[in-house]
Amino acid sequence: MLALHYFAGLFLGFFLISLFSPAKVNLFLQVRGKRPDGYHELASLFQAISLGDLLHFSIGKSDKISCSKRDPDFPLDSTNLILKSAQCFRNKTSLDFGLEVSIEKKIPLQSGLGGGSSNAATTLWAINELLLRPASLAELIEWSKELGSDVTFFLSKGTAYCTGRGEIIHEIPPLESNTPITIVKPNFGLSTSLVFKEFTALDSSGPANSLYFNDLEKPAFRLSAQLLQIKEELLKGGFSHVVMSGSGTSFICIGRGKIPTFMPLEPFSVQFINRKIDSWYEV
Ligand code: C5P
Repeated sequence: MLALHYFAGLFLGFFLISLFSPAKVNLFLQVRGKRPDGYHELASLFQAISLGDLLHFSIGKSDKISCSKRDPDFPLDSTNLILKSAQCFRNKTSLDFGLEVSIEKKIPLQSGLGGGSSNAATTLWAINELLLRPASLAELIEWSKELGSDVTFFLSKGTAYCTGRGEIIHEIPPLESNTPITIVKPNFGLSTSLVFKEFTALDSSGPANSLYFNDLEKPAFRLSAQLLQIKEELLKGGFSHVVMSGSGTSFICIGRGKIPTFMPLEPFSVQFINRKIDSWYEV
């Protein structure tokens, strides 16, 4: 009966699942050098946060994607990581299905918050649920590595020390946090590959004297002097720690402080989040 209902559902395309797709921050990010494959070797503490997109998935006749925000930098064709994830799932399982996705977009693009990677991981999870779990979590984790360096993290439980390109995850217990955390996003972004290209060995901070540091700040600040100014103003505003997330351009601000007004900056008040075993992230 379940199988009949399931196949009828697949045929008529009425199975629907809505999942929260969280952003991440890098509480520290060390770049350990350039690898022969062109990527950089990283050591970074990743944490999922309560800022995120809402994705509505259903099995349809063909792939279709729509988004609440019209942004030319967010493609709605097969180059979108959501549809790449669907294609990856088809290739790995030889299952044939179409995927319809509508996105309520909240995570800013080019912010270092992993929005595209999170959407990709959420898609792998959603398809697996819609198709009644043909794949194991270990398989989803393996496949996610082909989609992007940060995708795998989102299949962890939300707090992980990540090495390699960022795709080797070492789960750690949830972090206690009773201090306010604000993400501050300038009204411009930076391309991840450009920031990594700008990185030189001299930008490495060496042994850190703070939990919060990011070796990609120096190259990002060379590409945008305004970013350094924003960090300085945020520190002057009273936050106890201010560190760029990933390749920028958003900053994680710990504690209480004033948001500078000399240029447009969007603040998001967030919390750390974790998912329970066998279920997806919720806020
Ligand atoms: O893996 P992903 O496609 O997200 O990476 C985007 C770009 O960021 C890569 O093409 C590469 O230029 C750079 N990158 C890197 N080292 C990493 C991760 C990303 O150089 N560990």
